[in-house]
Amino acid sequence: MDRRHLITTGELSRAEIEAILARATEIDEGADADISDFLLGLLFFEPSTRTRLSFEAAAKRLGGDVVDLGAVEASSVEKGETLADSVRVLEGYCDAMVLRHPREGAARMATEFVNIPLINGGDGAGHHPSQTLLDLYTIQKHHGLDGLTIGILGDLKYGRTVHSLATALTKFDADQHFISPESLRLPRDIRFDLHEGGATVREHTSMEAILPLLDVLYVTRIQRERFPDENEYRSVAGQYRIDEAVLADASDDLIILHPLPRVDEIDPAIDETDRAKYFEQSHNGVPVRMALLELLMEGSR
Ligand code: NCD
Repeated sequence: MDRRHLITTGELSRAEIEAILARATEIDEGADADISDFLLGLLFFEPSTRTRLSFEAAAKRLGGDVVDLGAVEASSVEKGETLADSVRVLEGYCDAMVLRHPREGAARMATEFVNIPLINGGDGAGHHPSQTLLDLYTIQKHHGLDGLTIGILGDLKYGRTVHSLATALTKFDADQHFISPESLRLPRDIRFDLHEGGATVREHTSMEAILPLLDVLYVTRIQRERFPDENEYRSVAGQYRIDEAVLADASDDLIILHPLPRVDEIDPAIDETDRAKYFEQSHNGVPVRMALLELLMEGSR
């Protein structure tokens, strides 16, 4: 793959996405890795469970290892070090890095200071492209990516996984429905990007009418930490909860995805049903991130 960094899904072509998913499938089926003896730098300025641990697992399974900035409070960031200096220093210690940061645009900015591959592991309410790759991998396994009807539900304003997924799906023949409270609609710039990508942006405040059409329901958490005002959060929290009753009219083949962590969006009783694919989805993070690391590092050598 002739690409150094991965900052948004908008910059990936359909062919590149397909190459990563195909390589992830091979790896999942036991293919040997093409790289080894590398170090992946982990710079997480925000909490993370899946992204951090699955990148670490991916690096180690490929035969590499990680250097991890660890808790921000224990690093020089506490002494006032800038992000630019942190990434420049880390570049000398590793062969590729993953950056998660609360500020939108941080990952793009960081690429100005490093030459090794840099993966955006989430920039504020911006993008989270590697999550999208494992979302697409999971969807492809169950439904394929063309002729797909997907509902994306929850916090579409602050949800970076939503922004990256919706952008990537414009490259496939997918009908996208966006369901959220009025105040958490997709941001204008993302709607613009989707229009530019040829997608029709269908927005709803309730799921009822479209649920029977859906192959995939992608549920997201209300991003409490991004709300400027706690009262505003409380006014939208708990508006959508997926349980058996809500799903009564859904197609038998509907699957439910969630990038996790979930708070109370999905009744745990759904976990026991065939529709629940969110734990499988999180497990897919390892082969997909192995494929991504391999392709980025091979391309940059
Ligand atoms: C997501 C994130 O960090 O954006 N988590 C993840 O990486 N799987 C979703 C979220 O925090 O709600």
